[in-house]
Amino acid sequence: MSRYWNKTVKNITPYVPGEQPKGQKYIKLNTNENPYPPSPKVIEAITNAANDTLRLYPDPSSDELRETIADITGLKKENVFIGNGSDELLAFSFMAFFEPVGAPVLFADVTYSFYRVYAAFFNVPYQLIPVDNEFNVPIEGYFQENGGIIIANPNAPTGKGVSCTDIERILEQNRNSVVILDEAYIDFGGQSASGLINRYPNLLVIRTLSKSHSLAGLRVGYALGSAELIEGIMRVKDSFNSYTVDRLAQAGAREAIKDKTYFQETREKIIQTRERVSARIKSMGFHVIPSQANFIFISHAQYSGEVLFKKLREKGILVRYFNKPKIDNFIRVTIGTGEEMDCFLETIATICNSAAGKK
Ligand SMILES: Cc1ncc(COP(=O)(O)O)c(C=O)c1O
Repeated sequence: MSRYWNKTVKNITPYVPGEQPKGQKYIKLNTNENPYPPSPKVIEAITNAANDTLRLYPDPSSDELRETIADITGLKKENVFIGNGSDELLAFSFMAFFEPVGAPVLFADVTYSFYRVYAAFFNVPYQLIPVDNEFNVPIEGYFQENGGIIIANPNAPTGKGVSCTDIERILEQNRNSVVILDEAYIDFGGQSASGLINRYPNLLVIRTLSKSHSLAGLRVGYALGSAELIEGIMRVKDSFNSYTVDRLAQAGAREAIKDKTYFQETREKIIQTRERVSARIKSMGFHVIPSQANFIFISHAQYSGEVLFKKLREKGILVRYFNKPKIDNFIRVTIGTGEEMDCFLETIATICNSAAGKK
């Protein structure tokens, strides 16, 4: 604690990202990165963009990338905003749409932990909607007065999705608040709400290239919404940092979006691996939450989540463990390549067969 920090910084509990190991080589199944490299066209575009134009600032509104995304989603450029990863878009949305006084913003008690961090940081009151034993969020929880709603769909860290019908019911009941759908994992099997944007001016869909487009290192996310919502976020960006997305990121992201064949191939491989691993791990006696994302959330009656996490780490496999209410007996395992997952299955079987893993 430093006496130079302001009150907000003294009081915040920052988000803790998953470990990015530096020395030892791990099988990394802890931060929901894509195990496959980005499309070769992305690398080519970034290499070509690494030239003397780097002395110039990038396009502050990433217009070419906005056009590319507009084409693919059937929306207009005015409905698209580009950000430095979806975390930045979430932060800008808190600043643009939520108030420090009045009704609370609603989100699930088990969801992406950054929402609480932003709420605390921006002084926005919030209310948690409790998930049930199987991590379903009862949508009626969102039928009450509020200052906004955020739903991760599919949810993190559970992988549970909400149907478009339910999303629409939530939107119907909340015409006066901004409803944010964080679709970071939507490409792995969820139902996107982007088709509802033209009918609900209060709907903001936030997506990222970090997961399904293998570009966590490039930091590009985008928001889809009515022109008025997009203009609101643009006003925040231009009051904060006009150039959040650099030239290389804009060039690479465009090619990633355009290369639909590569995108389909890699996401299909991940979905197939997820289904295979889910079935195998279930047969070992694990409880597996049905996942629509690129990870699985699993627990075992006889082996604690924390012990499994530690034992896997000792054996060179990183997964994510959250020491938090309702989920402290689970581990979240990102879907890696087929070979990585075979190694994971073999290792976890060994741990479970030895008395050492028991609770
Ligand atoms: C639900 C959810 N939203 C947003 C993000 C942030 O993604 P990025 O900032 O890489 O776009 C993550 C990352 O893990 C996530 O799990």
